[in-house]
Amino acid sequence: MFLVFAIVVSSVFATAQELPAARSETATSHQAEALSFQLFKSSVQPVFLKERPGHARCYGCHSESNRIFRLQKLSPGAADWTEEQSRQNFQTVLQLVVRGEPGFSPLLLHPLAPSAGGDPFHSGGWQFSSQNDPDWLTLADWVRGLRADTQPAPTRLSLIYITNSAADTIDVVDPATNKVVQVIRGIELPHGITFSPDGARVYVSNESESVLDVVDRVSGQVTKKIELSARPNNIAITKDGRRVLVGIRTLPGAVDVIDTTSLTRVKTIPVNRSVHNIYVTPDGKYAVVGSIESKSATIIDLATDQVAWEVEFDRGVRPMAFETNPDGSTRRIFVQLSGFHGFAIVDFAKRAEAARINLPGEPTGFGILEGRTGTPSHGIGVAPDGKSLWVNSTFANAVFEYSLPDLKLIGHSTLPLVHPFGHPPTGAVPEWITFTPDSTIVYVTNSAARSVSAIDTNTLKSIAVIPAGEVPKRINTLVLH
Ligand code: HEC
Repeated sequence: MFLVFAIVVSSVFATAQELPAARSETATSHQAEALSFQLFKSSVQPVFLKERPGHARCYGCHSESNRIFRLQKLSPGAADWTEEQSRQNFQTVLQLVVRGEPGFSPLLLHPLAPSAGGDPFHSGGWQFSSQNDPDWLTLADWVRGLRADTQPAPTRLSLIYITNSAADTIDVVDPATNKVVQVIRGIELPHGITFSPDGARVYVSNESESVLDVVDRVSGQVTKKIELSARPNNIAITKDGRRVLVGIRTLPGAVDVIDTTSLTRVKTIPVNRSVHNIYVTPDGKYAVVGSIESKSATIIDLATDQVAWEVEFDRGVRPMAFETNPDGSTRRIFVQLSGFHGFAIVDFAKRAEAARINLPGEPTGFGILEGRTGTPSHGIGVAPDGKSLWVNSTFANAVFEYSLPDLKLIGHSTLPLVHPFGHPPTGAVPEWITFTPDSTIVYVTNSAARSVSAIDTNTLKSIAVIPAGEVPKRINTLVLH
């Protein structure tokens, strides 16, 4: 409201009295900036110098010149920075924040434990184990107080990619507006999609040509086609970004390994079963592949590329999601199965199925006319903050939310209806799930409705239904740093 008012006022002045408007606007920004700088000196900088038990000081590493977050070197014998050095630090640190938004600011997210919503890896460790850490709160308060209107709109922080499985297009959605901002064309039957860690490349498995397409993200152009050993399904990238793993569906089944430096296929890991989905565990140590035909999940040790263990089920293995321990290792795998309206739970340490959860029987009434009883529940995801599990239901035409780790049902959000001519409404046939990095929005592809639902994870309300291409299925989030 205030912002709108300010814009109206300044545009009036822009025509009538340009100078005074510009001056008063600058004066208030200057005051606000001066206050922010004072607070930066009095409370933020001390955090960078503070000895915090069990941690090295930020200053110890971040006074080196090869970081974006580069603090000035203290003068010999000095315990604090000079005014001039503090101003330089202030300018540096401003590059690492989104004003008013601690939840989007690298300064807050990079040193925060992943289990508390932080980035997956920081060479300086989990400096803050939770968002209640008093020093983290000091930084957050300062960021919250920075005036947003003194800098241009923040750059995009993540993008959502949707492969339209019955088309030759990939839609890219900006979560800031929930609008399609780019369409990648020319990949027929696109299947899995993932990204290089720096966001420069998009990798797509192409079922029609049995290749891995490498796409330049910014231009959307295919820059390379890497031949695969046979027809692919889903793909995953290792945590270091060095290898793309491609699940091969054609029998006897395998995992093709693509080296992302040479952009060639360097290896084929035999798994002796047709591979449908493939994941890399959040700690980067294992690949997990699922097979519909052989009803099993295979865990591959990525240090040796050897099969470590397997879990057998009585039904085909569909999408999976991973829950981590506080140290980042895998705790449980949630596994969707063919013909089962729910999911199985695999205890990773015990290497065995521990339980099976049925989704609620209500709402119901969908999936039969649509001919989708073989996959009553398809699409499952753990929110990036690790606090909730989201599970699609074709029968309920909804996505259910469970709390983690206790798996209590929290509620559901209904998905759009399809209105076939001369028939009662049918369901959206949900397929896959992804999230914004801050876990505030969950996206569900509605394969029958040619759309993607954006749902507020706090209220479970739909905030947008975004039109997509033909039969949208896989959906993945590119986090931009
Ligand atoms: C042991 C050394 C070390 C300590 C201590 C450390 N960091 Fe880092 N930090 C790094 C390194 C190395 C990188 C770059 C690689 C990476 O992303 O991990 C980094 C990256 C970052 C980044 C991303 C921007 C950049 O420069 O790459 C932020 C923000 C950050 N650290 C904040 C902090 C804060 C805040 C503290 C203290 C609370 C801290 N770090 C403590 C080593 C450290």
